[in-house]
Amino acid sequence: MSAPVVVIGSGVAGLSAALALAPLPVVLVTKTGALASGSTPWAQGGIAAALGAGDSPEMHLADTVAAGAGLTDPVVTSLLTRQGAVAVRDLIDRGLPFDRDGTGAPLLGREAAHSVDRIIHAQGDRTGRVVADWLAAAVQAADHITVMTDTLAVDLVEADGRIAGVQVHGPAGWQVLAARAVVLASGGWGMVWRDTTNPAENTGDGLVMAARAGAMLADLEFMQFHPTALAVSDGSGARLPLLTEALRGAGAVLLDAAGGAFMAAEHPLADLAPRDVVARAVGQRIAAGEAVRLDLRPALKAKGVSGFPQVMEVCAAAGLDPLTDPVPVTPAAHYAMGGVVTDPRGRTSRSGLWACGEVACTGVHGANRLASNSLLEGLVFARQVAADLRATLSRPQAVTAVDLSTPVPVLSRVDAGPVQAVRAGMSQQVGLVRDAAGLSAVAAQIAAVPLQPLPMDASQAEIRQAVEARNLLTIAGLVTDAALRRRESRGAHWRRDYPEVNPALARRMTQRLGEDGQSAALAVVAT
Ligand code: FAD
Ligand code: SIN
Repeated sequence: MSAPVVVIGSGVAGLSAALALAPLPVVLVTKTGALASGSTPWAQGGIAAALGAGDSPEMHLADTVAAGAGLTDPVVTSLLTRQGAVAVRDLIDRGLPFDRDGTGAPLLGREAAHSVDRIIHAQGDRTGRVVADWLAAAVQAADHITVMTDTLAVDLVEADGRIAGVQVHGPAGWQVLAARAVVLASGGWGMVWRDTTNPAENTGDGLVMAARAGAMLADLEFMQFHPTALAVSDGSGARLPLLTEALRGAGAVLLDAAGGAFMAAEHPLADLAPRDVVARAVGQRIAAGEAVRLDLRPALKAKGVSGFPQVMEVCAAAGLDPLTDPVPVTPAAHYAMGGVVTDPRGRTSRSGLWACGEVACTGVHGANRLASNSLLEGLVFARQVAADLRATLSRPQAVTAVDLSTPVPVLSRVDAGPVQAVRAGMSQQVGLVRDAAGLSAVAAQIAAVPLQPLPMDASQAEIRQAVEARNLLTIAGLVTDAALRRRESRGAHWRRDYPEVNPALARRMTQRLGEDGQSAALAVVAT
């Protein structure tokens, strides 16, 4: 029997790709015990799609391009907005229970920088959970998919000059999975920053696996910081709960320490200004020692508490009652605009390797993603990848023999302390506002992290910790390097030492990892 397609990751992109690959045999690998994981189940606002009367894929395209601050690829984005509406209608037709109005039409919400109400959602702000569980149930029921949970993909395996498998570690120990094609759908890397909305598994493993295999990366300097995470850190470095932008879309207002609304003075769209503008306005006040609060009451009055069950839950868990008082917020690392460079079919620069979802860099987000465009991107490009693979693999292929005895990778043990210190440095110096001195200090901090040999009898948990630490540190180096090289301020990348947009830099920067796998040894190979 020929090798399967191996899909890495079980968020919206991986689950959708695995389903759309039918009837090709698929092995779906995910490192978590639960099938639905990554950012997807945490998504709150919903999915942006041109479904409403008075909306169109062209209007959605225009809003996406405007948010992207000059770096959005309009051709690929046009594919996103056209195929996005088709993909979401398809989910509706297949029974995904989106929220509807009294006439049965989908309820559409508003988020920042969208010119119309365009965000379809499910169970109010539980959209991600509903979508992830629905897709996971379909995957469990699908005959063509074999699921491997609790299994960590560690490195890609090459044969005959192409990617032909994946080295994984799981309950059965080390294994090489031979693959006719590998699809990376391993999500983002919010965990590289101390303050993040992302779950613990978002350590950018797929990005590093692709980088170590020589794939081209782009736009890593552009990390989106969400303006309104709930400011309730316990100091452990765990994710901060999100307060969805849909709250501001429904009337919630940001307040300064004196209780005054401040966003109207910052941008004509006030609280619904693009996400980078709002995040910097909030971050500036916090850096000056002011607390910033979000008054949820107008939104809760307009939509009812039933519109925001997850928000009500996280506030209650923190001992806060948003019906009586505004709640404290802080910006937090949220979404990676950059990633592994892909073409519209999801092909990477390495033969045998496809990518979709947050790990991929299709060019649709430019320097600043438009809210709720990423679940959409996962859905659309998972289908693009699957269509390409179904067409490609139906043609006779030479069989690539994979060495199933590939030696286990040499891993290092990294103490938690230095990793947490790098994450803190990333939040402080490679966050909303950057400069050369701060970026260089973090680069030096990354290079100085002590590495010790990992014992041969390391447990599954220790191996996962070592691989994730390797990946976090590699990405911290890649992002810092990209941020140093972009000497201008654009979208989510803001340099206090280069505070203007430089029109000559209105182009994407690509990177490859140095030969020695060190984050310091990077080259900008094309612009
Ligand atoms: P993920 O959903 O992150 O899934 C990645 C998968 O890869 C996981 O299953 C993980 O276990 C697996 N994985 C990772 N590494 C490995 C490895 N080494 N081996 C095996 N498996 C691995 N976007 C919107 O469009 N609308 C929203 O309302 C919205 N709200 C958000 C709210 C929050 C709190 C967050 C954090 C993000 C939100 N986003 C939203 C962004 C969006 O959720 C993500 O961009 C999207 O879900 C990414 O999907 P994905 O499938 O690419 O990756
Ligand atoms: C949110 O609900 O505010 C998050 C939406 C997104 O990240 O797209």
